[in-house]
Amino acid sequence: MPTQLLSATPENIAQAAAIIRRGGLVAFPTETVYGLGANALDADAVAGIFTAKERPSHDPLIVHLSGLDQLPRVARAVSPVAQTLAEAFWPGPLTLVLPKQPAVPVLVTSGLDTVAVRVPDHPVAQALLQAAGVPIAAPSANRFGHTSPTTAQHVWHDLHDRIDAILDGGPTPIGVESTVLDVSSTPPRILRPGGVTAEMLAAVIGPVVLPRDFVGDQGLPSPGLLETHYAPRADLIFCLGPDAAEALAAELSAAQTAGRRVGVLAMDEDANKLTQAGAVVYPLGADLSSVARRLYAGMRWLDEQGVDVILCRDSGASGLGLAIRDRLTRAAARLMNTEETH
Ligand code: TXA
Ligand code: MG
Repeated sequence: MPTQLLSATPENIAQAAAIIRRGGLVAFPTETVYGLGANALDADAVAGIFTAKERPSHDPLIVHLSGLDQLPRVARAVSPVAQTLAEAFWPGPLTLVLPKQPAVPVLVTSGLDTVAVRVPDHPVAQALLQAAGVPIAAPSANRFGHTSPTTAQHVWHDLHDRIDAILDGGPTPIGVESTVLDVSSTPPRILRPGGVTAEMLAAVIGPVVLPRDFVGDQGLPSPGLLETHYAPRADLIFCLGPDAAEALAAELSAAQTAGRRVGVLAMDEDANKLTQAGAVVYPLGADLSSVARRLYAGMRWLDEQGVDVILCRDSGASGLGLAIRDRLTRAAARLMNTEETH
């Protein structure tokens, strides 16, 4: 099907909402990444998401609502802690895993009796949800396993001719996905770190459990639990631990010696030195929110430059650092953890 690329005008948002209501697929911006949306209560429409993305049906979707008032349509038994979190962080990048209403098709939740729900904080997403009048199921709008899209052009690259329309609302402001929180256990457990940080959650409800894949106080990834996701085409080597900068420099020269073209996702402070060393550099900025916002665009840009290898070093586990570390760990072909050598 030909895909319409639509600027996010009120007329085009109304048209996109009509497409959603009649069972079609629309990609739209959220504050985190672009989502690929369908009417969450229409099983056939939701099936189209899995086909377009080539996503396996065992991976459940997030249901997006226009506001907390819509929650009873998709979730039941909302606990006091879930209610507190929703009131504190919605609209915003927090996804709560809650007991599901029977009206939510099994495909949305991959047969689980829970549903992941959030209220996005982006004017285009909000306008679309309000105009559509139905909950919208939306995974990130990329081919399965690929880097998540932070611009309409990224969505076009992955999904054109597979979906009905893309609403272009410019680059997404946060750049990494929402935090997925399981509130069924006490304390709640982060299933995926994201835009609402562990510190922000702790300030409202007290300590939360870090994702299972991260161990120790530093939240370093545990080897052996890697699944490639969010991945660029080039081999990504992620350098962590106290000597990450030195390890990155060593990887750069080793790859160059082997005749490979090397790209680096670099903090601003490292950019000049790495350019002089012959790397293709994509600057990530100087603070964590800039790194998060630019990370996926950088992976895609370096792929376009035709590099064979992408290097990146860790930027810590505090605040957004944990989500950045999670995505780089999953995108990596190889982890270079200098912690282990000490
Ligand atoms: O920021 C975001 O969350 C973006 C935007 C578009 O909202 N969406 C997104 O969706 O990242 P997706 O499908 O790429 O990731 C959804 C995550 C997956 O890790 C999935 O396993 C988890 O949410 N999830 C969904 N339903 C779940 C459930 N019932 N229990 C546990 N995890 C669930
Ligand atoms: Mg995704």
